[in-house]
Amino acid sequence: MGRLENKVAWISGATSGIGEATARLFASEGAKVALAGLRLALSRPIAAELKANGGEALPIACDVSKERDVRDSIWKTVERFGRLDIIVNNAGIVHVKPLHKYTEREWDQVMDVNLKSMFFATKHAIPHLRRSKRGYIVNVGSISSFVGQALTPAYTTTKHAVVGLTRSIALDYAADGVRCNCVCPGITDTPMLREHLNMHPDPEAALRRRLRRVPMGVALTPQEVARAVLYFSCEDSSGITGTSLVIDGGYLAAAEWAHPGKTRFMEQR
Ligand SMILES: NC(=O)c1ccc[n+]([C@@H]2O[C@H](COP(=O)([O-])OP(=O)(O)OC[C@H]3O[C@@H](n4cnc5c(N)ncnc54)[C@H](O)[C@@H]3O)[C@@H](O)[C@H]2O)c1
Repeated sequence: MGRLENKVAWISGATSGIGEATARLFASEGAKVALAGLRLALSRPIAAELKANGGEALPIACDVSKERDVRDSIWKTVERFGRLDIIVNNAGIVHVKPLHKYTEREWDQVMDVNLKSMFFATKHAIPHLRRSKRGYIVNVGSISSFVGQALTPAYTTTKHAVVGLTRSIALDYAADGVRCNCVCPGITDTPMLREHLNMHPDPEAALRRRLRRVPMGVALTPQEVARAVLYFSCEDSSGITGTSLVIDGGYLAAAEWAHPGKTRFMEQR
């Protein structure tokens, strides 16, 4: 028996990186998964692969910054699978530049995709989560939920807010059997990270520079983060709500850090 047997999960941004890894892990644990992504062209092949492996998956086109899309995608999930037990608010974007170079539109876009989307999804999922015996909401924050990072003022603002929103949701729905927690990853090897690194003339050198600040010396894999999301999406974490779990290779443990060049974790990758 998988940990998520007979459970239904709605996952945003499920077509790449952490969201895709979560969808794959959840399916391998027995969940039926709704892949809410911007483009069906990306979610359809993932769903087909999960089905070919014996799972159940529903690709849904959904722009999480639009309430109607989020509402309809949750409705479609329930219509198809008959229930909803878990939502993972994972979709996110970042614009890398100083605050004074933002347009209002760019600022709002980051707020809407990273934060308002969580309001929409929670609002429309809550009636269904209340109906299931146990409901789980997992929000994806970041190390930027706790510290500032250069050139990401809107992103950092949203990720700090996610921690507060997580606590607030946890309080308001605890009586209904719904738990809400947050997973806060550090540097994780996903398309978002690669896009950022590709802005440098030598992306691999830029990655090595960034990883010098990480005590374990390595980038997280999306699968490592997905396992933390799974933890909050099942009874392994019973008793925990309103909390934020940092998974960052030690990044936030140190005010400053320069690892000695090689770590055992680096040998294993
Ligand atoms: N990669 C990292 O180093 C890192 C670190 C900390 C936190 N995070 C967070 O992890 C989450 C997942 O990011 P990732 O690293 O897997 O990157 P990613 O770019 O692979 O994934 C982000 C996903 O969000 C989707 N998305 C963007 N805008 C959307 C919209 N309007 N509607 C629906 N989907 C939309 C993208 O299509 C993509 O599938 C994000 O919330 C990100 O902030 C990532």
